[in-house]
Amino acid sequence: MVRVGIVGISGFSGRVLLDILLRHKDVRVTYAAAYSTTGRVDAIWPVFTNRTDLVCEKYSAEAAIAACDLVFLALPHTESMNVAGELLAAGKRVIDLSADYRLKNRAVYKKWYHAEHKDPRNLAKAVYGLSEIYRTQIKKAKFIANPGCYPTAALLGLAPLVSMYPDKIASIAIDAKSGVSGAGRKASEALMYTFVNENFKAYRVLEHQHAPEIAQYLSRMAEKPVDIMFVPHLLPVDSGILETIYVHLNAKIASKALTECYRRFYSTETFVRFLQPGAQPELRHVVRTNFCDIALVVSPDGKSLVITSVIDNLVKGASGQAVQNMNIMCGFNETEGLL
Ligand SMILES: NC(=O)c1ccc[n+]([C@@H]2O[C@H](COP(=O)([O-])OP(=O)(O)OC[C@H]3O[C@@H](n4cnc5c(N)ncnc54)[C@H](OP(=O)(O)O)[C@@H]3O)[C@@H](O)[C@H]2O)c1
Repeated sequence: MVRVGIVGISGFSGRVLLDILLRHKDVRVTYAAAYSTTGRVDAIWPVFTNRTDLVCEKYSAEAAIAACDLVFLALPHTESMNVAGELLAAGKRVIDLSADYRLKNRAVYKKWYHAEHKDPRNLAKAVYGLSEIYRTQIKKAKFIANPGCYPTAALLGLAPLVSMYPDKIASIAIDAKSGVSGAGRKASEALMYTFVNENFKAYRVLEHQHAPEIAQYLSRMAEKPVDIMFVPHLLPVDSGILETIYVHLNAKIASKALTECYRRFYSTETFVRFLQPGAQPELRHVVRTNFCDIALVVSPDGKSLVITSVIDNLVKGASGQAVQNMNIMCGFNETEGLL
């Protein structure tokens, strides 16, 4: 039985982590913490009434180290990097849901997150937890940088194309839409019901911090620099991300060949479902699950294509993928707690 802790239990991804981990047969949640919120977890999240007696403490590294073998950090970016190092030095496994260890270049991190990186040693060691793509590295890892929500949908949607046909891509534009829980629990006027309901808008156009993360990992898959355009939108739903990805090619790819490439690429994956021709992914088929559904349509001239990819931002885009990574790291059944 692995003893696990959740730091950031009062946040949205902390709640989803606990929901999954309470159903997991190989772990016991032995520690829960936040920063300003304390008290019984079932008072913070009444959904856990009769499911747990856990008490949320003010975060202390000493307490986390004593209580846990593995710690999930569900903290805001620029906070995880204050916490991860001490846990790792004490020999704990750490899965960080924030963006602090995803961008390998510290100058790029500073540009997008407006802070100096304080933990370069562990930044170099962190393994990017895109489970289906980096499973071999995750198996051996002690420290995981769990991917962002938008990057998870984009990278899974593009991975077969970018790794098999890197020289045929002329441009990639990612049109992404997310539900409101993507912004976390913190109150803000822009996220009030009256501003979101019956509305739809783009935000941070070409300025969103997930763009460099997507470009970094596509470039790694392609083994050459890959540029993208990325535009996020706010959908008037609680959870779910749908990305429509437009790709122009500089040389023809036959629809049949590319479809077969996607089918083979994901044929052994439980959580990535490449849909049958003619079907389109829908949010309602993946919300509250760890699935990513993907469809591909190639234009009749074979010179452009549209990929659609959907996930639940809090599950496959955060806590579900984090548990999938824990399962891989610890040698558990990869789907434990997630089906
Ligand atoms: N929401 C998503 O869909 C999603 C998807 C992928 C990744 N992520 C990432 O996962 C992390 C958690 O996201 P979330 O949406 O769960 O956030 P959230 O709902 O805002 O919760 C944040 C948690 O961090 C704690 N916290 C808040 N301010 C803090 C501070 N200044 N210092 C230290 N701890 C602080 C909070 O504790 P208190 O209540 O005590 O303040 C709370 O438990 C973020 O880095 C986010 O970018 C989120």
